[in-house]
Amino acid sequence: MCGIIGYSGPKQPLPILLAGLSRLEYRGYDSAGIAITDGKNLIIEKKQGKLQVLKDHLSDKKINGNIGIGHTRWATHGVPSDENAHPHYDNNQDFAIIHNGIIENYDEMKEELLKEDYQFESETDTEVVAVELSKRWTGNLLETVCQVAKDLDGTYALVVTTVKQPDTIVAGRMMSPLVLGVGEGEVFLASDSAAILEHTNKMIFLENGDFVEIKDGNYELFDINMNKISREIQEIDWEVSEAEKSGHDHFMYKEILEQAEVIERTITGRLEVGSEEIPVDLKQAKGFEKIWIVACGTAYHAGLFGKDLFEKVLGVSVSVELASEFRYREPIVGENDLAIVISQSGETMDTIAATELLKENNAHVLALVNVVGSSLARMADSVLYLHVGPEIGVASTKAYLGMLVGQLLLAKHWDESSKIETTFEEIKQLPSLIKETLKCESEIKEISKSINNHKDIYFIGRGLDYALAAEGALKLKEISYLHAEALAAGELKHGTLALIEDGTPVIVTASQHHLLDKTTSNVQEVKARGAFVIAIGNNSSKKLQDISNDYVTLPEASEMLSTIVSIIPLQFIAYHVANLNGESIDQPRNLAKSVTVE
Ligand code: AGP
Ligand code: GLU
Repeated sequence: MCGIIGYSGPKQPLPILLAGLSRLEYRGYDSAGIAITDGKNLIIEKKQGKLQVLKDHLSDKKINGNIGIGHTRWATHGVPSDENAHPHYDNNQDFAIIHNGIIENYDEMKEELLKEDYQFESETDTEVVAVELSKRWTGNLLETVCQVAKDLDGTYALVVTTVKQPDTIVAGRMMSPLVLGVGEGEVFLASDSAAILEHTNKMIFLENGDFVEIKDGNYELFDINMNKISREIQEIDWEVSEAEKSGHDHFMYKEILEQAEVIERTITGRLEVGSEEIPVDLKQAKGFEKIWIVACGTAYHAGLFGKDLFEKVLGVSVSVELASEFRYREPIVGENDLAIVISQSGETMDTIAATELLKENNAHVLALVNVVGSSLARMADSVLYLHVGPEIGVASTKAYLGMLVGQLLLAKHWDESSKIETTFEEIKQLPSLIKETLKCESEIKEISKSINNHKDIYFIGRGLDYALAAEGALKLKEISYLHAEALAAGELKHGTLALIEDGTPVIVTASQHHLLDKTTSNVQEVKARGAFVIAIGNNSSKKLQDISNDYVTLPEASEMLSTIVSIIPLQFIAYHVANLNGESIDQPRNLAKSVTVE
């Protein structure tokens, strides 16, 4: 995944690089490194571990220069170590290169270079590019990078600097994200716009095959054959403060708390019948014969929620697909199909590849994404932005809520026969309902103490509650490292019930009134085996309240909205359990936010 940053302009690059890397650290934290040229020398510093290790290492060093590049790594090839950290360099240390992606043919290239006596210091795929650049130096950095890039298979955002042309940075992308920030006499490069938003809100989102030559704070864009191209500058309306912790210990916590405000933005201007903000109108929606929802992780769980809604209002069958599986199948997709691809980042490699497949089969692709100008947004035929602002915590919270609400908005606009009872007027009240639900935090904090020492925790629910349970379990797993498993409540008796014993925590989501009796019976079954039951439901579920060890009461609301806000107690459970156990909440082990590799 990796985070990339670059700077060319009148200021000293080091503080800019380090600040950018802090904002990008969510993308990987196996190591961090920088390279700065001062016109004569190329200074490279890199350290295994989190960015702080590099910062400590640099604290007593003075590194002045004209341009600089920086990297925070999520290892794909080679263990986290100083040697494998980026920037990588060639045998003469003339070129420094940072990379996000995977060079799939690196081993063949390396084999050839080894035969020619070139040396390698790292186990990475990236280092071969540095060595190739030096071997094939033409006297012009852009030309050399483009020529080498032509021979690369796989994915990359590459940024290169060299003492041989010390006033220039060259960068290019193929499948991995890269944004150019355009300031006054200065130019920035980053893996995402939030990392450089404090310097400029004018961004160019590079497209696959784009290369940029940056010199003295100016830039020119090219294709791989060095033909000049132009790309539109987009103005990003996110606030810098949105990408900061604002006094909280963790981004995840801040992002949970700000859900009322961000959902206000998700719904604004989208509650009027026929709103132009809704990309596919009712007439078009009625023409689809089949719907595919394709996504990964949390976004996939959001899709499980959408399936019920779209089937209900459009009366067509909806398949929810894991992008990483879908892309390697031969799904029967037709030109009358709608594909809803869901992604916070809009850069998830598997979702992008699945979207390519959907497009090849002429489906209409509607992207539900958060990051404006991201790859998926650009690939799609229509886009509904989540507008929840930058999400930095690796564990997705506000974006998930935005995905649920985004799908509800689509379904409501396509709901000709009023099959969804919740009205637009009620949806307008959703931000206050979220605020009300957030008050459950102190209760959840206490409850978390009764489960944080358990190794296995089960989440159960039926219907839409099951979709929520799946997300609740993922949240807990990824930041607390406890084993959590979600099950459709009615499925327990088909096997997993065997694992329930005295004291096993079972978390029940029960917002669906019409399924309440059935869910309650399933809770009786786990109670009978000694489970410790924590239930989340409405005030009316007396029986469930009586049999649960803890009961979190949701504020009064329509069934649909109750379901949506019941993710909030689940987010708090994950957060407080992980916090009690002292885990690294914003940077869980082995993970990174934006999964731009396969
Ligand atoms: C969420 O908590 C996860 N970190 C992860 O499952 C994430 O949702 C998934 O990688 C998809 O990301 P995307 O929404 O940016 O496509
Ligand atoms: N393949 C490179 C490495 O392992 C970059 C990894 C990435 O982009 O995630 O260092």
